[in-house]
Amino acid sequence: MNHLLSIKDLSQSQLIELLQLAKEIKSNPKQYRNALDGKSVVMLFEKPSLRTRVSFDIGINKLGGHCLYLDQQNGALGKREPVSDFASNISCWADAIVARTFAHSTIEQLAEHGTVPVINALSDMYHPCQGLADFLTLSEHFEDLSKVKLAYVGDGNNVTHSLMYGAAILGASLTVICPQGHFPDGQVVVEAQALAAKHGGELLLSSDINDLKQQDAIYTDTWISMGDNAELADIKAKFGPYQVTSELMQQTGANYFMHCLPAYRGVEATAEVVDGEGSLILHQAENRMHAQNAVLVTLLAD
Ligand code: CP
Ligand code: NVA
Repeated sequence: MNHLLSIKDLSQSQLIELLQLAKEIKSNPKQYRNALDGKSVVMLFEKPSLRTRVSFDIGINKLGGHCLYLDQQNGALGKREPVSDFASNISCWADAIVARTFAHSTIEQLAEHGTVPVINALSDMYHPCQGLADFLTLSEHFEDLSKVKLAYVGDGNNVTHSLMYGAAILGASLTVICPQGHFPDGQVVVEAQALAAKHGGELLLSSDINDLKQQDAIYTDTWISMGDNAELADIKAKFGPYQVTSELMQQTGANYFMHCLPAYRGVEATAEVVDGEGSLILHQAENRMHAQNAVLVTLLAD
């Protein structure tokens, strides 16, 4: 493993090992206090962030490393100087690059032109750190991830793509329900279905909310992602039937609700569900740091 650009690049054993290491770091943080001793990580963010920025900064600190945040929110990377020069220059000083970008191709360019590991902190296509934290969270509630029945309801987006690859590689069952015109990327669907077939998982896609059968957990995300200029009124009209409500949770028998956050209560899910007893949102948020620290230790520790 040289980078973390997408969960699809991980083998099943690499993914399982990352989740195990994340649990180990979470339960024995003192043993990893110097894991990144002398290492510096540069963080480039073209988009806003709470969880990702804070969990990387504090996580790197807990591993004994140093992190530097470079604010790119006033313009996409590559405007003042080429992305390739960014990557090659940062590689002169830093030991890794964490990047949140609009275009996934920017992350790929950083990896291509730099000489240090690159970690995708969200692009238009993927959110692998989120996916890792989500499967870590599920693994704390279910003994065998291959038996988990997870559903994703809402906009087919970067988070959906990472969940699809993760579930497929782990051999889990994932049902993705999105309105027509808002399905996940076609190539991701084909690749995730092939991975699910290889690992004994199941990936179902539908635009009919009634195709949701018995579920263990229901996951949703914002209906309008960063960089998407859709009008909320138009989206609300189209996505109304896909709101995650207590009724939907009851009908499907889902005990757990998941969301990567930020959540818009009363839009993609009701406040009752987001803040309800079965909501795992803060477990997911906490696990961002542990999952990312497992990635950092795997990529950087001596
Ligand atoms: N879930 C997530 O990535 O949150 P932020 O956008 O706040 O980093
Ligand atoms: N799909 C959302 C995730 C935010 C963490 C977005 O890209 O804005």
